[in-house]
Order: sequence, then C-alpha cells, then structure tokens
Amino acid sequence: MNAPPGHFYLIGVGPGAPDLVTLRAARLIDACQVLVAPRSEKSEESLALAVVRDRLVAQQVIEHVYPMERDPARTAACWAALADRLAEDCAAGRAVAHLTIGDPLIYSTAVYLMAQMAERIPAERLHVVPGISAFQAAAAITVQPLTIQEDRLMLMPATSLDEVALALERCETLVLYKIGARLPALIDLLSRRGVLNQARLVCHVEQGEREVVLSDLRQLADTRIGYMATVIVRAGHRRWEPR
Ligand SMILES: C[S@@+](CC[C@H](N)C(=O)[O-])C[C@H]1O[C@@H](n2cnc3c(N)ncnc32)[C@H](O)[C@@H]1O
Repeated sequence: MNAPPGHFYLIGVGPGAPDLVTLRAARLIDACQVLVAPRSEKSEESLALAVVRDRLVAQQVIEHVYPMERDPARTAACWAALADRLAEDCAAGRAVAHLTIGDPLIYSTAVYLMAQMAERIPAERLHVVPGISAFQAAAAITVQPLTIQEDRLMLMPATSLDEVALALERCETLVLYKIGARLPALIDLLSRRGVLNQARLVCHVEQGEREVVLSDLRQLADTRIGYMATVIVRAGHRRWEPR
C-alpha cells in the first residue's frame, strides 16, 4: 500500500519496543517513501529509527541531526532547512514521515518541524500520529494508577526543583521528565515532602536490557542516570466529592 502522495506525517513510535508501535504508525511507516530519523548532536544513533529498523525496506531514510541548545535562531534555521527539503519531497508526490520517540506532541522537537511544515503544505496534508508516551509505559511497568476519581496529573521537566515543589502541592500524581544530574536534589526534596516512598524511577522503559525500574530512588542517587529517565510520584489521592 502507498501512503497518499504529498502527505506529511509526524509519527510517534512509542518508548522503544517495536511491539508498542501502533498499527497505524506501522502501516504508515511501511507506506511512506521518505522517513526522517531525528538524532541529537549528542547521540550516536536515532532511537526512533532503531525502534522501527525491522520495518525498513525501500524507504529513503534522512538522518536529521538537530542542535541540543537553546539558541532560537539556530534551532529555527535548522528546522526550516529540513522543512524546505521535505516540502519539496511532498510537492514531488512523495509521502514523508518524521519519526519521534514516544508521542510527537509531548516534549518533542517534532513540533518545531510541524510548525515549519504548516507554512509549506496544505493543512489537510499534515498529520500527527500519536504514540505511546514514555510516562504511560513507565506507569504500566510499575503497575500503578496514574489517576482515578478526582486525581490531578501533572507532567513537567525536572529542570526547576522550585517548580517541582510547587507542583507537588497541586496534583496527586506528578510525572517528571529530564531529570539527569538533578536526581540527588530531587530525592532530597521528595524526602523532605514525605513522598519519597511513593516515587518510582524508570530508566529506558521498553528498551530491553537497559530498562531499570526502581521503587527506592536512593539506589541510583550516586549514579549518572542519563537522559532516558522518568520519575512518577504518586503523592496522594483525591476522592470523589460527596454528592
Ligand atoms: C524529549 S522528551 C521526549 C518525550 C516523548 N516524546 C514522550 O512522549 O514520552 C525526553 C524525556 O522523555 C522521557 N523518556 C523518553 N523515553 C523514555 C524511556 N524509554 N524511558 C524513560 N523515560 C523516557 C525522559 O524523561 C526524557 O528526558
């Protein structure tokens, strides 16, 4: 099956396991002529491409190395150049897909490309294919509810621990991405708030032997945990209001 000519897809491929790629994503990856595999300057391979490597047959793969810096001008130029090239592919009748780990709309550089493509191709040819997000896979592996009844769920980066402290007062379940070197300070904060025992750390979820699931975060306090780590804090439970 061929994908509709000239259409562009932002496809989420899930957290890492090939069998967590949705049927729609798999069908479109098989059907597109051009696949864009993003890779940050700091990584050796595109993780999103690795997830779907077994599906590659005749698709042209464009590896796109993007900057990991907060320079808006350089970032915009990088994505604009890619969008120019992909818009040409679409205009030539090829179907193009950009692959993203997890979901394309959750903390993904794919949204920069989405904005640039929206300026270059008709709206009806631009599509987002949702993927299973890392936090959903992390919750599943810990077999813990994310929300029930009136619970509030917050998802945020752990880049500011002041913001994390505020968030703990505003929700029952807090999901933290982008933890990195802040893990020891985060452990200290969660301990002071009395919720350390309700926190779970999940690294490389659904990525085979690299997967780590911990109910005691202190076990990794002295370890460099890397980028692919998610903490879920089940801080409380908000029951239904009595009628
Ligand atoms: C740039 S965001 C990408 C999020 C992704 N689009 C999603 O829907 O989950 C990167 C952050 O997602 C989390 N993450 C992504 N994949 C993960 C995995 N397999 N295991 C644990 N955390 C992961 C980490 O917190 C990481 O710092």
